[in-house]
Amino acid sequence: MKTAWLVVNGYLKSEKFEEIYSWLIEAAKERNINLKKLPNDQLDSIIPADPENINWRERPEFVLFWDKDVNLARMLEREGFRVFNNADGIEACDDKALTFIRLKNKNIKMPKTFIAPMTFDKEYKDYTFLLQVEGSLGYPMVIKENKGSFGEQVYLVNSYYEAVDKIKEIGHHEFIMQEFMESSKGKDVRIHVVGDEIVTAMERVNENDFRANITNGGKMKKYTPTKEQAQMAIDVCRELNLDFAGVDIMFGKEGEPVLCEVNSNAHFKNIYDCTGVNVSESILDYIVKSIKD
Ligand SMILES: Nc1ncnc2c1ncn2[C@@H]1O[C@H](COP(=O)(O)OP(=O)(O)O)[C@@H](O)[C@H]1O
Ligand SMILES: [Mg+2]
Repeated sequence: MKTAWLVVNGYLKSEKFEEIYSWLIEAAKERNINLKKLPNDQLDSIIPADPENINWRERPEFVLFWDKDVNLARMLEREGFRVFNNADGIEACDDKALTFIRLKNKNIKMPKTFIAPMTFDKEYKDYTFLLQVEGSLGYPMVIKENKGSFGEQVYLVNSYYEAVDKIKEIGHHEFIMQEFMESSKGKDVRIHVVGDEIVTAMERVNENDFRANITNGGKMKKYTPTKEQAQMAIDVCRELNLDFAGVDIMFGKEGEPVLCEVNSNAHFKNIYDCTGVNVSESILDYIVKSIKD
């Protein structure tokens, strides 16, 4: 039996996360792989600071990195391990400003976006930038913290004053400002890609909120992506060099796909409940094939 590592976040201890880990471990076991769970706070067990303590008798065949601790992913890559997803890909997904930069001018339609200007102060002393932003995007406007999940750090503001209040509330977190896609209000498509293939997809609809996230009350429906949506999901993964991802796509005015965001370690419990497709199986099949090549 081969040994591999499943790196997870040591501070996320809920049932919801444990369930995902157990599915991945189970899928690995079925493929004769002992996938050992290693929380990222087990510093000295993952990469000992003292090189003499490094004991590669247990050298993993690969690392399945189910976290966003990019520095740790980079360290593992420096040790020569094959890390799925790779550190650059995880970084590009985890930071919505970086996702935008990496995909800009790559023929991937995204909402008009401004990245908040960097300031050396604790908070903005001057909000003049907002006048330029509102001139281009208008209201309502979407403000998103660069790092966030489950829709919790995504906001809709209706005026200059609401925008200023929200930015003050966000505090030191970095953020982007985005055109509100009215045509996609409370609605988007989640597509799971593994390798170069679409594994499964669902539509998410929330009648009561502009955010379609399931954790936020969105309802799931089985969905067959259009050719254009499927192509966008695959192009995005290629561009960001991702082995697998959950790609969120909104609907433009003419129904055309507009990229919302990319998740390097997308939860797959909801999509299983919706479609019966277990994405962990595809991920492990893909990894087994990749490490052979
Ligand atoms: N520019 C936008 N216009 C309209 N709705 C949006 C926009 N950006 C995000 N949303 C909605 O908010 C939800 C959460 O945004 P997303 O960027 O995916 O953040 P998270 O990482 O928290 O899921 C999306 O699923 C979508 O329904
Ligand atoms: Mg999302």
